[in-house]
Formats: sequence, C-alpha cells, structure tokens
Amino acid sequence: MLIAIDGPAGAGKSTVARALARRLGFTYLDSGAMYRCVALLSFASPGVAPAELAVAARIELGTRVLLDGRDVSVQIRAPEVSEAASRVAADPGVREALVTKQRELIATGDWVAEGRDIGTVVAPDAELKIFLTASPEERARRRAAELGADPGTVLAEQTMRDERDSLREHSPLRAAPDAVVLDTTGLVLEQVIERIVVILAGC
Ligand code: CDP
Repeated sequence: MLIAIDGPAGAGKSTVARALARRLGFTYLDSGAMYRCVALLSFASPGVAPAELAVAARIELGTRVLLDGRDVSVQIRAPEVSEAASRVAADPGVREALVTKQRELIATGDWVAEGRDIGTVVAPDAELKIFLTASPEERARRRAAELGADPGTVLAEQTMRDERDSLREHSPLRAAPDAVVLDTTGLVLEQVIERIVVILAGC
C-alpha cells in the first residue's frame, strides 16, 4: 500500500509523513532528500550534467541519508541546497532518474512517500493521496523555527522556490485531481495525523 503526501515547502510533509509511517508501521520515503543529494553532487561537479549525476548517485534513505556511502543528513538541509535542489528538480533527466529509483523502492511493501509529484507522477495509483498545505506565512514561520533563521528571509526564499516548483514544465507542483487537500494552518501534528487516519479509514 502507498500513501502519497505532496505539497509545498514547509507544509509539514516530512513531519507528518514520518509520524504517519511510524503509526501505521509503513516505511517513509523522503523523495525531496534525493533531489537535495543531486544538488549537493552538482556543487561538487559543476561541469557534469545533473542528470548524469542523478543516474550514478547511490542514495540510501533511512534514519540517516547516505550519498555514495557518505552521511549527508545535515548538509542537505542547508538553505543553499534547498535552492539548488529546486533548480536541478526542473531538469527532466534528473526527474526521470530519481522517479525510477523511487518506483524501485516502493514496488514492494507499505509506504508513506512525500514530495511534489508522488500522487501525480511517481505513483498515480496510490491508495491515498494527501495534498498538504498551509498559509505561506505559517509555512515560513515553521521552517524558520526549524532552521533558527529569520522568518522574512525564509518567506522570500520559499516564495521563489514555490514559484519555480509550480511553474516548471516537468511535473509541476500541483494536487492530483483525486487528492484530499488538507490545510494544516493552525493545526498541530497530532490533529493532522488524526485527520489523515480518519480519511484512510473511509478509503
Ligand atoms: O522540505 P521541503 O518541502 O522544503 O523540500 P523537499 O521536499 O526536501 O524538496 C526540495 C526540492 O526538491 C523542492 O523544492 C522541489 O523542487 C524538489 N522536489 C521535487 O521536485 N519533487 C519531489 N518529489 C520532491 C522534491
């Protein structure tokens, strides 16, 4: 079984997907971490096409994120990596390589997978699709608190990334037609999880 959780930056996808996976005994897939890994590789090898880097990358996801055997869990969360990830994510070759890896992973077992295109591209036949959102200000506030950064700066960076993710030609960020849109503004994690569990029971 697969539960897809898509949505913009700071909507709470990672926290919700991780908690939901734990509650249901499913495995959690953080597809954004894969785009972040390719962004990291493209910093180190600016002369190589990002799609080539994506094909060759050995990405292991778990409690830590390992890139070609190296623990990059902390490094991939840096703001400049977020920005670069949204740039490499617009490259159709990068997307194809990473979607292939994601489909291999979810082929067996039960998953909660989060990203931008899980319900639309990676797994259009997912049993449940949630599109998680929240007001831009609340999303920026959450992310700023997480990073210990200035909310205004985070909001500006987030707006740019949202636009790039939504307007790109390949797999733009949008809710699948059959996704349940869940606005998490003003909700705490437990409330979001409860709502999803109720939706799941009705599936
Ligand atoms: O946690 P946050 O929402 O800030 O970012 P993320 O999920 O780690 O994704 C980082 C970037 O990767 C996004 O801004 C997207 O451009 C890209 N991404 C994507 O295009 N497709 C996905 N399935 C996941 C991430």
